[in-house]
Parts: sequence; structure tokens; C-alpha cells
Amino acid sequence: MAKRSPLAPPVLPGYSYVRALGSGGFADVFLYRQDMPRREVAVKVLESSAVSAELLDNEVDVMASLSAHPSILTVYEASISADGRPYMVMEFCPGSLSSRYRVEQIPIAEVLSIGIRVASAVEAAHRVGVLHRDIKPSNILTTQFGHPVLADFGVAAMIATVESEDVAMSVPWSAPELVARTSSGSIATEVWALAATVYTLAAGRTPFQSLDGRRDEASHRDRISKARYTPLGRPDAPAALDAVLAGGMRRLPGDRYQSAGAFAEALQHVERELGLPGTSLDIPSSGWAPIAAPSAGEPPRGPVRSTVQVESKRARVATAASASATAKPPAASNRRGTVVGIATGIGIALAGLAAAAWWVLL
Ligand SMILES: Nc1ncnc2c1ncn2[C@@H]1O[C@H](COP(=O)(O)OP(=O)(O)O)[C@@H](O)[C@H]1O
Ligand SMILES: [Mg+2]
Repeated sequence: MAKRSPLAPPVLPGYSYVRALGSGGFADVFLYRQDMPRREVAVKVLESSAVSAELLDNEVDVMASLSAHPSILTVYEASISADGRPYMVMEFCPGSLSSRYRVEQIPIAEVLSIGIRVASAVEAAHRVGVLHRDIKPSNILTTQFGHPVLADFGVAAMIATVESEDVAMSVPWSAPELVARTSSGSIATEVWALAATVYTLAAGRTPFQSLDGRRDEASHRDRISKARYTPLGRPDAPAALDAVLAGGMRRLPGDRYQSAGAFAEALQHVERELGLPGTSLDIPSSGWAPIAAPSAGEPPRGPVRSTVQVESKRARVATAASASATAKPPAASNRRGTVVGIATGIGIALAGLAAAAWWVLL
């Protein structure tokens, strides 16, 4: 992925810029302080050319619905900045697993628990027809409470539709059929990416990186296309974990676990084998996350602008004068008020009686 230099943080009404948090292939992430409610938020700003307003509209609806899942990053709002860049306001997460696996050996129990949570988030998304398309350690962030959450749902999909496929592809976690461009993403490519991500967290290196020899991208892609599995090589990693990871990274898509949920269950078996407390699968009941489908003919929604109707003083004086000229005598309006009051009272009493009768019948 081409390196790009970060752009300046945009001016966002209601938010004050604090500092830069990081940059990816097509976006910069900044820390802002929101004025009301007062809280720290992460703002992801995409390049203005990266995505159209309509695409942003559709994708943020998907992301907002998915973010109800306990292992998916919460998205608060999305809009277009005054200088024309699409941005998303999200929960601020102080940590990322990408920075963690490089500097420390994450305990196997934690790797399993993270893998199960993230796989259940992916399974939940698949059940409502959404692919993540960029599962990798840097998209697993840790909340202020230390929980792992999957970020960037739909972002890669948005970018892939307007840019070349390569821009959105994170090669070390991409399945052979993605690298060979015979697939543009499927449940099987997501199972591969999940297994490659869990492998990376456990091994401290990506599954097909060269341990010696050629380190260029062409030979990396070549090793992925052969899909020859290298065991984790950690004394505390059981053979069962290697078997599960190898099962998620089989060369042929049909030979892998059939779903992210099945991969999560296989990790749960490893937990049980090790006598660890089980991590539960957060998989929703059917009917979860009714995603707002873009309705045909509806104009694209723009940035939300709150407005309050303020009457001018001159208009108020004019209205008051005409009202007093046409006003009914107070007695008449009071009489009308009394009639309405009695009618409402009778209505409430009848409704009360009906409710009581219903209760007795039950
Ligand atoms: N919600 C967030 N809270 C804190 N840091 C974040 C958040 N989202 C992204 N970041 C940071 O910004 C960096 C760039 O993010 P991104 O543009 O998604 O690129 P990538 O996922 O390829 O690293 C990430 O590596 C991460 O450290
Ligand atoms: Mg990311």
C-alpha cells in the first residue's frame, strides 16, 4: 500500500482538535475533544477523492447498525467536513493490537479470547449480509475498558469501489484468491483473514512472511498463493491451535471453515482443551440490526444542520396585533376549553374502564 503523508485536521464545529492518532492507506485519524457531550473522540478523515457522498451515506448506516455489537467499534456520526472530506466520529480507543503484537508476546489465552470475540463480530456482520474486507491486527483496537473491538467495517468496501482493488488490500492477511484477483471477497476470504490475524497475534509475525530469504512483495504473494502453513513455534501454543489456524488458511476456499462462527467455535474447543474459562460467542438472534436500506429516489443526505426557528421582534409585534383584532371573547374560548376538557376526561375514563375489563377477562 502506497505511503501517503497525513493531511491537516479539518475544522469541525462542536469539536476541538487535540492531536494526530495515526494514518492508514487512505485516511488520517485524529483525536478531538467533543464539546457536548464532553468526551474524547477519534475522527477518521478520508481523502476527499476516496469516496462519494452517497457511498458514505450508505456505508455509515451499515456501520452504525453494526456498532451495537459488543466487539465492534462504536461509530457516533459521519458527515462531510467544510473542506469536502468525508469523516467519521468514533469511540476513542487508546490501544491497537497491531502495536501490541510487535512489542510483546500476547498470552495464548488472550489470543483465543480476542479471536473468538472478533470472529463473532464478523459472523454477526455476515448474518446481515456485510463483509468487513479488511480484517487485520491494526483494525482490532482496544477500548478504554481493555476490550478488543473490530474497527473499519465497510471502509475498505467504500474505497474499493472507487479506487483500484490494491489500495484496499492488506496483503499479509489476504487469501490466495484475493491476491490472485479471482475473488473480490467472500465469507471464505474473511475466514482466512481471521485465521491470519489470530496467527499474527500468537506468533508475533504474519503467517507468510519470509523468515529469511526474499522479503519483497511479489515473493510474499507467491507464498500466500501456495498457502503452506508454518506452525506457530511457541512452546505454550497447543497443536490444536495450529490445526485450527491451518484449517482457516487452506488454499482452496471450500476447504476452510464454512463460516466465521464455525472458526470461533473451533477456537472455543481449544480454550476448553486448555482448561481456560470459555469466551462466549456474541452472535445475535435473527432480526438483529435492521440496516437502513437506501430507499430509491431519496436524495443523498447532507451534513446535518440543526436549526431553531427564531421569530423576529417585528414579526412578533405584527402577529400579536392581528391576533388581538380577531380574538374571540375570553369567555367563549374558555367555554370551548371546558368542553374539550370534559370530552378528554370522559375519553380517559372510558379507556380506563376498557383496560380494567380487559384485565378482568385475562
Ligand atoms: N477509534 C480509534 N481510536 C484510536 N486510534 C485509532 C482509532 N481508529 C484508528 N486509530 C489509529 O489510527 C491508525 C490509522 O488507522 P487507519 O486509517 O484505519 O489505518 P490502518 O487500519 O491501516 O492502520 C491506526 O493504526 C490506529 O492506531
Ligand atoms: Mg483501520
